[in-house]
Amino acid sequence: MSRRILVTSALPYANGPIHLGHMVEYIQTDIWVRYQRSCGHEVHYVCADDAHGTAIMLRAEQQGISPEALIAAVAAEHQRDFADFLVAFDHYHSTHSEENRHYSALIYERLKAAGHIRTRPVQQLFDPEKGLFLADRFIKGQCPKCHADDQYGDSCERCGATYAATELKNARSTISGATPVLRESEHYFFELPHFADMLATWTRQGALQSEVANKLGEWFASGLAAWDISRDAPYFGFEIPGAKGKYFYVWLDAPIGYMASFQALCTQQGIDFDDWWRADSSSELYHFIGKDIVYFHALFWPAMLEGAGFRKPSGVFAHGFLTVDGTKMSKSRGTFIKARTYLEHLPAEPLRYYFAGKLNAGIEDIDLNLEDFVARVNADLVGKVVNIASRCAGFINRSFAHTLATVAHPLLDAAVAAGDSIGQAYEKREYARAVREIMALADQANQYIDEHKPWALAKTNAQDERIAEICSIGIELFRQLMTYLAPILPQMATQVITFLRIGDLHWESRRRLLGRHVIADFQALMQRIEMKQVEAITEASRETLSPTPVVVAASRDEAILPTIGIDEFLAIDLRIARIVSASRVEGADKLLCLQLDLGDAGMRQVFAGVRQAYADPDALVGRLTLMVANLQPRKMKFGVSEGMVLAAGPGGEELYLLSPDSGARPGMRAR
Ligand code: MSP
Ligand code: ZN
Repeated sequence: MSRRILVTSALPYANGPIHLGHMVEYIQTDIWVRYQRSCGHEVHYVCADDAHGTAIMLRAEQQGISPEALIAAVAAEHQRDFADFLVAFDHYHSTHSEENRHYSALIYERLKAAGHIRTRPVQQLFDPEKGLFLADRFIKGQCPKCHADDQYGDSCERCGATYAATELKNARSTISGATPVLRESEHYFFELPHFADMLATWTRQGALQSEVANKLGEWFASGLAAWDISRDAPYFGFEIPGAKGKYFYVWLDAPIGYMASFQALCTQQGIDFDDWWRADSSSELYHFIGKDIVYFHALFWPAMLEGAGFRKPSGVFAHGFLTVDGTKMSKSRGTFIKARTYLEHLPAEPLRYYFAGKLNAGIEDIDLNLEDFVARVNADLVGKVVNIASRCAGFINRSFAHTLATVAHPLLDAAVAAGDSIGQAYEKREYARAVREIMALADQANQYIDEHKPWALAKTNAQDERIAEICSIGIELFRQLMTYLAPILPQMATQVITFLRIGDLHWESRRRLLGRHVIADFQALMQRIEMKQVEAITEASRETLSPTPVVVAASRDEAILPTIGIDEFLAIDLRIARIVSASRVEGADKLLCLQLDLGDAGMRQVFAGVRQAYADPDALVGRLTLMVANLQPRKMKFGVSEGMVLAAGPGGEELYLLSPDSGARPGMRAR
């Protein structure tokens, strides 16, 4: 029976780049969606940027741009990263959208009308210089327990104590340095305890993984509290209807962003929104999330939906966190790898395959072991799967006019039958098991070919029909394997469709053998990957680089230089570049390492002598500047510098990066 399924991945924050940790989730979801589609179900997969909150407001301010400009730039980058990782959303939206404003207001009004909203005054630390209430992470001071300096407003990293920000000694605002003062303001609360009974039942009804349901049980035991859903101006978000100067807390409108994105898709495609969201909808709704945001998705969100008369999720699927080589991703080890950095060195599919091989339905962390990654991809995909096709296609194409023979073999029946169990594994998100079972089939196929040695037969008679038969069985098996791998390897699946001259690789198509059928020439389907490519990725991700005394001499001589001709000028390729990241270079106190996005012209790394002028490198992230794009690359001790950015001024602290007027885009040439 055909199902109707709406799927989401968590909405990434619009204040930073996508990294490989994020990609665990988007790849996990995308594989599930592709599997469901392959089975012929109606599936919609939506996502969006999570664009609201204080962090985004402050970052935009630092960069001297509007929050809207900041989130637009980040949205473009995020979507490019996802597309290049072959994550195929049906729609990608933003929480800062009219649809989201509409549904946030609607849900709030309904909750209010039903008596689930109340207000009460809250005392909170306030930055008098900045005119801003301070969340705990914007306050630092001395731990009240162990007196360690420089601890955040909620807990001590030294002794592990948790406390209220007001208990810190010598507290200061990390935004302005001012001493915070206590201030009172009216806050809006969502009465989560009204939903305690519903949640106690719902969390045990199969929508949650058992580990997650158990964790929630602990929270229930300690009692549910009302949830503070308002923040005072200034705040980047939606003003609460009828409450001047009060804004919805970012986590209130973030999950509503799932609805907003789906609404935008409905408008585009004429889908009936209510049919999917009304309380008694027969469609299915699944949220893929990381284990860190379970509380929001398994308590607040279903309660909000219930209170506002909408349907609740059919499933909330949490996953664990990514570690690299056994430890937390680390900037100094070069294992905090941005999606873009990876993509500059390797294609998406090897990582999709590796993650699939590690993922299951639980919430334990998953490890990307870099050596194992290289070995596994080469051994399985290149060595086992592609190998079957490349060995067999040669004989069929050279000696049998590209034509397969009609064959039957128990291995083919077994491979068809295995599809049931492999499909179940995908359905239950046990991808590691799916991959194991697929590779077991690949091993059998290779064994079959090794035993029957078509190359030995070809030595006596290249036209021997037995060769056509063996190789046709090989190709039929290969096609079945690719049906099973297609959700993980969509690009390779497309190439195989062309190679085998077939219409699709849908799940059920595995049952139809190709029979007497003409195939195309075999083209390499996947390249081996090399450890040195992986090393280049960690090298490019490493932020602590070897010390070196580089002096970037800024000329103080302001005299006009000798005249040059127009041709000499035009030989300089000046481009608009977006600063995607800016980091300090250890041991080079004048340098920042900039990653620059030149649009279609790709990415560049530049070591720029602007560190003294830009003490906070993060403030540069996201802004546009101008660079010389055709300067001879220069190898420095800590990496290659591929160009120069343009800055005016004598040097040192007095250097000013140039910026284009608004409207300019990365990659545009300046002349
Ligand atoms: N904006 C919120 C989600 C709102 S959903 C209504 C958020 N954003 S996030 O950018 O921090 O994370 C997006 C998703 O990526 C989350 O599900 C998060 O758990 C996941 N991951 C972020 N870092 C991760 C790892 N290192 N490993 C695995 N998943 C990780 O949370
Ligand atoms: Zn302490």
